[in-house]
Amino acid sequence: MEESDDRLRALRAFDDTMAGVKGLVDAGITAVPAIFHHPPDYSDYPHAPRFTVPVIDLAAGVPRAEVVGAVKSAAETVGFFQVVNHGLPREAMSGMLAAVRRFHEGEAAGKRAYYNRDVAGGRRVRYQSNVDLFRSPAPANWRDTLFLQELLAPPPVGPAPEEEIPPALRGVAAEYAGLVRALGGALLGLLWEALGLPRGRLEEQEDAMCLEALSLGCHYYPPCPEPHLALGTAAHSDPCFLTVLLQDAIGGLQALVDLDDAGARSSSVWVDVPPVDGALVVNVGDFLQLMSNDRFKSVEHRVLASAVGPRVSAACFFRTHAAAASARVLRPIVPGPGDGGARYRSATVEELLRQHYRVKTGLHGRSALQHFRL
Ligand code: OGA
Ligand code: NI
Repeated sequence: MEESDDRLRALRAFDDTMAGVKGLVDAGITAVPAIFHHPPDYSDYPHAPRFTVPVIDLAAGVPRAEVVGAVKSAAETVGFFQVVNHGLPREAMSGMLAAVRRFHEGEAAGKRAYYNRDVAGGRRVRYQSNVDLFRSPAPANWRDTLFLQELLAPPPVGPAPEEEIPPALRGVAAEYAGLVRALGGALLGLLWEALGLPRGRLEEQEDAMCLEALSLGCHYYPPCPEPHLALGTAAHSDPCFLTVLLQDAIGGLQALVDLDDAGARSSSVWVDVPPVDGALVVNVGDFLQLMSNDRFKSVEHRVLASAVGPRVSAACFFRTHAAAASARVLRPIVPGPGDGGARYRSATVEELLRQHYRVKTGLHGRSALQHFRL
């Protein structure tokens, strides 16, 4: 009891600084505070350094069937792949990472104005450390985030007004998100073809994939004095259709991959998603796993803490904007593996999100999808 009172007090004190993990590092701490301690996990999975996720070349000259085959194979197994020659200009990518860094390294007073946990209140620009700081019993992550929700939402919601965007990202974040949205359309076509669905229904598909909204997690992972005690991001799967992630050159992102799908005892291992020059990381989210009836895998992933840093990343989540979430019904749209039967009941995006945030992330975030399984 006393212990949890202490923890709550420590969480409050940390949150009240409104300066995030970066504030701790700036204050010169040399030890990781207890609220960030991830216990050594006796059931943790081994690291498989020989494996990495596939890199897929989207250059115009590569035969379509080859690209579709590579996307299919990656989505069905590791749930992650990287894309190169994806059409996003280098400057847009480096400019985005620089802007994220500029925000987090800006004046503490300037950042404080954006610090809030007010999701219900409808604030779509939220700077905070640890979305679930008070909700989850799990240790806090060594990470700060500026969340730009529904950056490109269509009317009547409309995109987040430019004056709501912190100056460091003005003109940069929305443009970057627009480029990722265009890439999302191309990825969607590939994924749909990989599922064997007719291309003719693209509008319907775009609707399903929520191409219209798009939220951005602008992450900052300060260098950690005791990286073995903390995690940058604890294991989780993404509550969205698809994630397109831009990471800098530091590394530390890992995906939990089933090495032996066919074997009697499958063995899960942590596989690196290493920085690849000019590449974007793509991963299947929970919504796509449901719609693809388990053909595509939404896999757990995490980010290790590192003594080297900061590490900066920008995650673009394809997800219906909140105003439409209760009406948007997702259901399996293709026969599942094996007998082909539906593996999930239909669910609204709102239900899926609610379940995602209800599942307590312990040592390994258990997928909210289990709740909807038939
Ligand atoms: C996420 C995520 C990984 C990263 O935002 O969901 O997994 O590299 N981010 O920051
Ligand atoms: Ni993620």
